[in-house]
Amino acid sequence: MGPSTALLLVAFLGWAGGSSLHYSDGRSSRLSMEKTFGRLVKDSQCHHMLKHLHNGARITVQMPPNVEGHWVSTSCEVRSGPEFLTRSYSFTNSTFQAHQFYYEDNHCTKPTYTLVIRGRLRLRQASWIIRGGTEADYHLHRVQMVCHTATVAKEVSQRLNRSCRGAVKGPWEPNVIYELLSEEGAFDCSKELNFTMHELQLLRVEKQYLHHNLDHLVEELFLGDIHTELSQRLYYKPSSYQTALQNAKNHDHGCIACRIIYRSDEFHPPILPPRADLTVGLYGQWVSQRCEVRPEVLFLTRHFIFHDNNHTWEGHYYHYSDPVCKHPTFTIYARGRYSRGLHSTRVLGGTEFVFKVNHMRVTPMDLATTSLLNVFNGNECGVQGSWQVGVEQDVTITNGCVALGIRLPHTEYELFRMEQDAHGRYLLYNGQRPSDGSSPDRPEKRATSYQMPLVQCSASSQPSYHNRVDGGNRPQLHHNDCTGWHRGSQKHVTVALVAFVTSLLLCWQS
Ligand SMILES: *[C@@H]1O[C@H](CO)[C@@H](O)[C@H](O)[C@H]1NC(C)=O
Ligand SMILES: *[C@@H]1O[C@H](CO)[C@@H](O)[C@H](O)[C@H]1NC(C)=O
Ligand SMILES: *[C@@H]1O[C@H](CO)[C@@H](O)[C@H](O)[C@H]1NC(C)=O
Ligand SMILES: *[C@@H]1O[C@H](CO)[C@@H](O)[C@H](O)[C@H]1NC(C)=O
Repeated sequence: MGPSTALLLVAFLGWAGGSSLHYSDGRSSRLSMEKTFGRLVKDSQCHHMLKHLHNGARITVQMPPNVEGHWVSTSCEVRSGPEFLTRSYSFTNSTFQAHQFYYEDNHCTKPTYTLVIRGRLRLRQASWIIRGGTEADYHLHRVQMVCHTATVAKEVSQRLNRSCRGAVKGPWEPNVIYELLSEEGAFDCSKELNFTMHELQLLRVEKQYLHHNLDHLVEELFLGDIHTELSQRLYYKPSSYQTALQNAKNHDHGCIACRIIYRSDEFHPPILPPRADLTVGLYGQWVSQRCEVRPEVLFLTRHFIFHDNNHTWEGHYYHYSDPVCKHPTFTIYARGRYSRGLHSTRVLGGTEFVFKVNHMRVTPMDLATTSLLNVFNGNECGVQGSWQVGVEQDVTITNGCVALGIRLPHTEYELFRMEQDAHGRYLLYNGQRPSDGSSPDRPEKRATSYQMPLVQCSASSQPSYHNRVDGGNRPQLHHNDCTGWHRGSQKHVTVALVAFVTSLLLCWQS
């Protein structure tokens, strides 16, 4: 392949675009959505799993969120860097106490240090950038640190001794609690560790009944995302979410990590059960487990098919205008080749891949998107002026789609890992998109953390068709059990252009 063609960010679509395109209410396009889906993956398990999300029937969103209680990580989390950690956060009245346990390994079995963070949290208003999220302010009262090994204690105290004298009055010992920031003390050494709690600036609480069982409520707390560049963390305002924490009282019963983390404290950090790294096997079909949020207002679900016999892949990206993925805006089908690299030397447990995209089809799913695509002149995104709601076009011949900021062919440097969840299902994680909106089109831009995992829905890459003709495509009645916010925010004047500019952040998940 020639020089790698970077994904162009279409600046002229600019944020301040001032377009008056609004979301359509989505109802008109639901029929065609069903049709598209029906055709693509009719009756397969994968189809079923995606449809469950699309109906949005199982999840309730609390607005404003009630964060009272104790929330814990469900597994060993990976932040860019990489950093491996587990979290245990308690909220009472308007104060919080957060424990962040850090580790040297990707299974969270070897604790290095723990931060204990206390402060005040004040919920503000519903976020109008991230629909379905709530904005909040926080204030830190105190940050303390406990190191769990003599080596870590020595390293940290030496580093802080150089840059933040206030914190270090003598060499640090393991298993002793030290002050990094306090309101009375006149120093703040937390910055030295690039520490912030900006994740508390964006919150969302979801409730769902697992397996349709009214006795089994699971509550999840989504907090703001962390910038993928360490140096930007202090200045970054969250625009999507991290992996959710679960309420310690209402968590998935299969979550062993939840129980271990719940019982831990800064002197007894959680040690998760040791596991072997699974070899990443890219075969079969994988789908999103939930409606995913990308930085800057994009909601989507993904469905990937990997053919390991000839190293090709196919991806379906279903984009929506709302946080429960009910109102489709457009879908993208992409395919290409991939090649497996080595185990990552930078990210323990990760495996490197290179993905190429050389074929793409686009289907606008609502009027706003359709008119937007029709506005573009020249042969830069399918046949000029010919777009219709629900009708797919191949944009390979026009080398992608300028309106969507996509140039073909395109190459991305990827990081993958695989895991089994508490129910024995395989999960596939691929690299987090750079928070600055760029694309990992050079090896040095390869991710060091991951997106929300996809779950395997079929071990075969061939769809399992059945001969059912009984109205399987009938439009669904959508339970509107998300609370009133949803309806209200539909009126929100949100510009479809935003979705387009940012779509390039996620058109290339793999
Ligand atoms: C929460 O605040 C209320 C009123 O300020 C107070 O009466 C109550 O004791 C507080 N609860 C806890 C657990 O601190
Ligand atoms: C901190 O730095 C000073 C001066 O470099 C040194 O004398 C002292 O021993 C150091 N303390 C610790 C705990 O490393
Ligand atoms: C904090 O960020 C800066 C800038 O990226 C980096 O040089 C430094 O090593 C980071 N500090 C820690 C403790 O990771
Ligand atoms: C790769 O294999 C899959 C499944 O065996 C097949 O459907 C697809 O057409 C093949 N692609 C290429 C480019 O050979």
